[in-house]
Amino acid sequence: MKVEGDWRDRLGRRFARFVTTAVVARPELWRVFRGPLRAQFDQLAGSWEGRRGPESLEPVEAALRRVPDATRALDLGTGTGKAARAIARRAPEATVVGVDLSPRMVAEATRLLPPDLAGRVHFQVADASALPFADASFDLVVLMNMIPFFPELGRVLAPGGVLVFASSSGAGTPIYVSPRRLRERLAPLGFGGFEELAAGTGTAFVATKNL
Ligand SMILES: C[S@@+](CC[C@H](N)C(=O)[O-])C[C@H]1O[C@@H](n2cnc3c(N)ncnc32)[C@H](O)[C@@H]1O
Repeated sequence: MKVEGDWRDRLGRRFARFVTTAVVARPELWRVFRGPLRAQFDQLAGSWEGRRGPESLEPVEAALRRVPDATRALDLGTGTGKAARAIARRAPEATVVGVDLSPRMVAEATRLLPPDLAGRVHFQVADASALPFADASFDLVVLMNMIPFFPELGRVLAPGGVLVFASSSGAGTPIYVSPRRLRERLAPLGFGGFEELAAGTGTAFVATKNL
């Protein structure tokens, strides 16, 4: 029933906002929220791709236009893979890994991947708080509507690499972290060159890992 669906949707958004605020302030709480958040996104996976139109990608697209083309890119919290596909289209030389906690999201992302991208984009289940990648594995990491786990961002990005943090509905996005908080947390990890931009209905924040 639609009314029940709307009610569940609002509750889910509030839960995602609550978890984001809690985990950014106290990352050790993630172990409490990991299971419920995975269950929430597993349940949403089948309808996720159609929930938002192409405008949801505009902040990511605008950020990608301002940074060098990637060769090794990571899309964290990839969902159904929209940002991973956008990165691959933008940078024809890039290999792209899309990571998500939710196995059903990863299955959807894999199903929706066009054949022409299949050789250089792949998706895998992993937790952004403990990534299965070596240090300095990527020159671009994108988070679109995704909770940041700061130490892992600093670890897997190579020196000179770029981090893009995009919010499809700006400050109204359920999973949202303010630019002020992003700067506070990224500067001590050796990030600089901070830029903020607005595009379509959303915003993006760009940072570069110092050489
Ligand atoms: C709001 S959705 C965004 C999906 C996609 N980036 C988009 O904007 O369409 C957040 C996604 O991040 C995933 N996620 C949340 N926490 C995660 C974590 N610690 N590691 C990997 N994925 C995570 C969820 O399963 C979900 O698919």
